[in-house]
Amino acid sequence: MTIEIHEDATALARALAARVCEAVDDRPNLVLGLPTGRTPLAFYEQMRRRSQERPSDWSAVRTFNLDEFVGVAPGAPGSYRSYMQRELFAHVNVRPDHIGFLNGAASDLDAECERYERAIADAGGMDLILLGIGGNGHIGFNEPGRTLAARTHRARLEPSTRASNRALFGDSLDRVPVDGLSMGMATILQARRVVLIATGATKAAAVRRMLGGSITTEFPASFLLVHPDVTVMLDPAASPR
Ligand code: F6R
Repeated sequence: MTIEIHEDATALARALAARVCEAVDDRPNLVLGLPTGRTPLAFYEQMRRRSQERPSDWSAVRTFNLDEFVGVAPGAPGSYRSYMQRELFAHVNVRPDHIGFLNGAASDLDAECERYERAIADAGGMDLILLGIGGNGHIGFNEPGRTLAARTHRARLEPSTRASNRALFGDSLDRVPVDGLSMGMATILQARRVVLIATGATKAAAVRRMLGGSITTEFPASFLLVHPDVTVMLDPAASPR
């Protein structure tokens, strides 16, 4: 695991955007796993800047997002699909049929999870996946527990996870769905390269525990310790002291 401490959250976002654009330039048919949440907003902002100044060609790139809310249609304002459209997809020339997303409003959610696993496999697996981390150690919607589902699955969201997504639902906790669909930890760990970003003091304890050396389902991020190519990008506030 490589740990990088950047000058601040903006410098981190800029460095990550440069790295992702370089990966796209080097490999035009890159298969890229993507997160939502508050942390990557600065990164997506830098991506938009770059795509205005010196656009990369995304016409052959394929993307797969980590997770989506159950019961929320892809075009609904609170959906992660809408978030991604706003933050990134509308600003690069990615083909709509190259955007992989879980449909939280699918009538058969088990079949939807199987479809997603197959789609990732059919794309040849992910070359690079970007991740955030929950304060409780969750990755995607893989919440702490006695067991973890290895593959894409339906997950019950922790109260803290729902609270951190309130802004997407008009700041009303009651409107945040109770379940999500998420890639499993095995799906995530099959990506050839992983980059995890964490910024702000509220993430420092989670980062410290992730790096602590013990692997446990009670702290899903700890599973990243088994992956051979993980870079953790931090700002000073999120760095374990
Ligand atoms: C969302 C996701 C989540 C977030 C995590 C941190 O796609 O994968 O695991 O990365 O909840 O969220 P923020 O960045 O809002 O603290």
